[in-house]
Amino acid sequence: MATRANFSSKLGIILASAGSAVGLGNVWRFPTEVGENGGAAFILIYMACVVVLGLPLMVSEFVIGRHTHKNTADAYRELAPGTPWVLQGYMGVFTSWFILCYYSVVSGWTLKYLIGAVANEVTTLTDSTAYFTDFTSDPWLPVIFMVLMMLLCHQVIVRGVQNGIERYSKLMMPLLLLIIAVLVVCSFSMPGSEEGLRFLLKPDFSKIDSGVILSAMGQAFFSLSIAMGCLCTYGSYFSDDARLMKTAGSVALIDTTVAVMSGFIIFPAVFSVAEVAPDAGPGLVFITLPKVFQMAFEHVPLIGWFFAVMFYLLLLLAALTSMMSIHEPTTAFLLEHFKMERRTATWIVTLSCIIVGVLCSMSFGPLKDVRFLFGMTFFDFFDYVSAKIFLPVGGFIIALFTGWKLDRQLVRDEVTNHGMLSSALFPVFMFLIRWAAPIAIVLIFLNELGILG
Ligand code: PFF
Repeated sequence: MATRANFSSKLGIILASAGSAVGLGNVWRFPTEVGENGGAAFILIYMACVVVLGLPLMVSEFVIGRHTHKNTADAYRELAPGTPWVLQGYMGVFTSWFILCYYSVVSGWTLKYLIGAVANEVTTLTDSTAYFTDFTSDPWLPVIFMVLMMLLCHQVIVRGVQNGIERYSKLMMPLLLLIIAVLVVCSFSMPGSEEGLRFLLKPDFSKIDSGVILSAMGQAFFSLSIAMGCLCTYGSYFSDDARLMKTAGSVALIDTTVAVMSGFIIFPAVFSVAEVAPDAGPGLVFITLPKVFQMAFEHVPLIGWFFAVMFYLLLLLAALTSMMSIHEPTTAFLLEHFKMERRTATWIVTLSCIIVGVLCSMSFGPLKDVRFLFGMTFFDFFDYVSAKIFLPVGGFIIALFTGWKLDRQLVRDEVTNHGMLSSALFPVFMFLIRWAAPIAIVLIFLNELGILG
């Protein structure tokens, strides 16, 4: 039997996992939440959530993947054969496929804006809101960009673990980090940028209530790509000497740094242009920022153009590396479970996501009046169900599985590499995964469904 693919180096492991974590969520969602929920006070709470809840869950997924060296569905079948826990494995695979269907739509927008920035279109707009709505409501244009992003992602996945995911993560992640550093300098050098920094960093503890704490937890889970089958699948490609806790720590550090830096890029720039009020969510990067780039362009054309091109390139790289990690769990499942060729498995995932992605994309245009439960469009439905239902339910089951079902010695062996590494933190990890994580997730879940205040 052919040996199963592995990542070839520790750097590859960290950069591929960080590529999954660093995504659209870091660049627009985190800064918006910080701005709305108490600035530095929110950042502190967010960091606590990452350490106390995010890290133990990430380590758990790595344990399950690395111990079995199997795709997510078969990993659970091996660890708990014939039990209902197996369903969690299938759910991980399904969740990642489901997310890709709509994540690819927004990723397509980043490609359109990158091309628009290079062609000097984004920097010379008179009405950025109309530009955004005209584009997203067009029946075919956003579909074309979504398909292009899916094909880019396909090209990486079809090349496999080492030649595809690892190689391209090693190329794209350093570039992404470099762009962030350049953009922070650009943003800070704009006149009046201190105002934005003050807005972002002023700790306002009066805004902190249970709802804000729960949103910080939800953001931490989404941003770290927890409970989507991705980390478990990537974990299954880790070599036996990879240090699971250290890897999770590095990934969380990179992810949080990129999120905070994105805030440092966006808000000083937005506040340096007094007339512009920041939109929330995707509007922040697709409507507000073009206004900023346009004003920068009016002052010094080259700087405005450069700022816009770099920013959308950053967004595209972040989106693409996350898409790769969302594509791989289903591909690995088809490939191993049904003994398919990688090429065939990759095409099945790419084409099926494109077909459903068309519906999600068109829900901003021709299908905008097609509504589901609670008046949601296709896109809203996919976004809501994956982020608000699959994510907390999956996280809850993973915590229970690692904390209560798996043999404690098996978990200890994975976390300490069979006793080669210190086990000082192991009891803390076990406590968090058995108690803190499940309780916190139940609270997030009830809050998201509007049952808690
Ligand atoms: N963590 C990514 C982000 O912050 O944008 C999003 C993501 C990646 C979600 C991988 C789900 C996933 F499976």
